[in-house]
Formats: sequence, structure tokens, C-alpha cells
Amino acid sequence: MELKEIYRIAKEKFKGACRVCPVCNGRACAGEMPGIGGIGTGSSFIANYESLARIKLNLRTIHEVREPEISYDFFGRSLKMPILVAPLAGMVINMGNAMEERPYLSAMVAGAKEAGSMACTCDGPNPLFFDLGMEILRENGGWGVPTLKPRPEETFLPLARRAEECGVNAIATDIDAAGIIHLKRAGQPAGPWPVKAWERTLSQVKVPVILKGVMTVQDARLAVKAGAAGIVVSNHGGRVLDHTPGTADVLPAIAAAVKGKIKIFVDGGIRSGADVLKMLALGAEAVLIGRPMAIAAVGGGKEGVALLLNQYADQLRTAMIYGGCGSLADVTASVLYSFGKQTDAPGKKKKSR
Ligand SMILES: Cc1cc2nc3c(=O)[nH]c(=O)nc-3n(C[C@H](O)[C@H](O)[C@H](O)COP(=O)(O)O)c2cc1C
Repeated sequence: MELKEIYRIAKEKFKGACRVCPVCNGRACAGEMPGIGGIGTGSSFIANYESLARIKLNLRTIHEVREPEISYDFFGRSLKMPILVAPLAGMVINMGNAMEERPYLSAMVAGAKEAGSMACTCDGPNPLFFDLGMEILRENGGWGVPTLKPRPEETFLPLARRAEECGVNAIATDIDAAGIIHLKRAGQPAGPWPVKAWERTLSQVKVPVILKGVMTVQDARLAVKAGAAGIVVSNHGGRVLDHTPGTADVLPAIAAAVKGKIKIFVDGGIRSGADVLKMLALGAEAVLIGRPMAIAAVGGGKEGVALLLNQYADQLRTAMIYGGCGSLADVTASVLYSFGKQTDAPGKKKKSR
């Protein structure tokens, strides 16, 4: 199966809910929320894409790097790439009922596993979302990251227990869902919670917890204080608040503040291996990709997901060759072109990842 064919099938199945645009940049679907777009004017989704597109890469070829090594240790599990599949739920409400939720989620999880990546599963007002994730993760030996809504401790912890029993090695919680109206309407409050509350909740979870939806240095520092093992620099794909900056805009300051204290992941508008390289150079150690993975699942099932992830991995290796980076540890800001300010050194190596 080829990606072109996968996109053709996906476009047909989405029936307009996602246009499967040649460039997934948030413009055609601006404001379609519920739907696949960004909230309001769509500016936060668009800013994710544009903040990355503005960044240019240096092109270097006089060096020895031929086969960059991109395997990544995700809390003790070895991934073949520093690329994960973001949690995306809601076939009926967000994706035009393009396929049933179960086969869709199964394609995301199993396809990611096949490619040597890992997918996140979801949670929502309807318990079906979390339950399906648990079922599918069990079928896949706990290979995935359940993403819980930021529920109060007494409802968060029983879900975390179920996730631990599935054999997962980490869980996440999308703290930026705090303002999502349909959770409130369903009588299921989901934050925000002060740092003390997170400290208490996280201390009772046995596996590392990642806080997804950090966009400021302040929150990144508080995530460290709360005892989180990682953060995802994310604005939820531009779906929770209009007029935020792009994630590539805020990542460098967050990395400068907390790198080494907590694992830093990022998502939003990443559409190629070159984009992955940019995010790593800006300070992330791995990335999550959202909408393009859902499109691949709808158009090509598990095979489509694995194919697209492998394409990103190949593109990342190629971009690393042009950056002169033999390993992920070699990726520094020196791969980024800084207008009018060419550096003369390949940059210092990072100590560890
Ligand atoms: C249709 C849709 C559903 C989503 N559902 C969830 C969700 O249930 N939980 C969550 O943490 N993030 C959710 N997200 C956000 C993604 O996990 C991710 O942060 C975002 O899509 C990344 O941006 P990208 O799609 O531009 O790659 C959703 C995004 C979309 C587009």
C-alpha cells in the first residue's frame, strides 16, 4: 500500500470531516471543533504549523555521518524512533464517523507497535474511550500510553490502577483538558488542580506520569515540583484555547528551564522527519504526532499507521545526515539556521538523553 492510496481512501471515508489537505496546517478546518480543526479562529493550530515552518535547517555534507542512530529509550522501553502517536479520540464527534472507534484505536496502537513506536490511548466523558484503550493495550502487551483526563484524585487513581494492571510503563494526563466544556457538561470536573493536588495524586501512581499540555515555563517548573516524570509541550493541537503561540515558539524557553529535570516531549504541527529534527534541536527528546496518524489509520489501518511512522523515521535519518548528527545525542541547536548568524562549530554534544 502506498501513502497516496491511503490518503485517497481516508478522504473518501472522512466525507469532509477532514479534507486530507496536501499540507495539514489547520487552515481548511479552522474553527471545526468538535471536528478535527483548531478552536475559534483556528489560530493556535495554525501557529503550531507556522512556528515550525519558519525554522530553517542548516545543510551540511562534509562529515562522516551516514547512518544516524535514532532509537529512543522511553521509560525503559526501546523505541525505534523518537516519535510517538498522540492520543486522538472521537470518531463520531470529531472525525465524521469515518470508521468505528475500536478498529481505529486498534490500528493506532498496533500500527505504532509494529513500527517500533508507541501510541497513546484516550479517556473522555463516555467511559467507552478509556475502556477501549485498556482492552486494546492489553491485546498489545501494555505497549502504549493511556492518557487520562485530569480528573479529581478519587476518580483519577482507579483509572491509573487499571492502566498499571494492563502492563503499561507510563501514563499521561492531558492537563490542558481542564477547560473542555463537554466534560463539565457531563458532570465530570477535570481540573485545573493546584500543584499540591498533583503532588498528592502523582505520588500514588506506580508508573511515571507525563503531564500533557504545558505551554509556559511556570507550568513546566510546577510539573517538576509535582513529581511528573515528563511533560508534553502542547496546546492540544490548538483545540482548547484560541490565540496561543505555537509549540515550537515556547519549547526553547521551557527546555532551558527544565531540561535534565524532567523528560520533555512536544507535539503540534509536526509533519515530517525534518520537523522532528527541528523539535529535537529546540529541546525536546521525542515528539508526538496527531492528525496525520489518524488520517493514516482511517485510510490504511494498522499498515497505514506503521507506513507513515516509518516514513517519518526515514525522513528524520535523512535530515540528521544533512545536519551531521550521528545520534540523537548529537542533535543540538547548531542544526538550526539562524538568519544572518552562521555558527562556525557543529555545537557541543549534549551529555545524555
Ligand atoms: C480529533 C482530535 C482528538 C483529540 N483527542 C485528544 C484526547 O482525547 N486527548 C488528548 O490528550 N489529546 C487529544 N487531542 C490532541 C492530540 O493529542 C495532540 O495534542 C494534537 O493533535 C497534536 O497536534 P497535531 O494534530 O497538529 O499533530 C486530539 C486532537 C484531535 C485533532
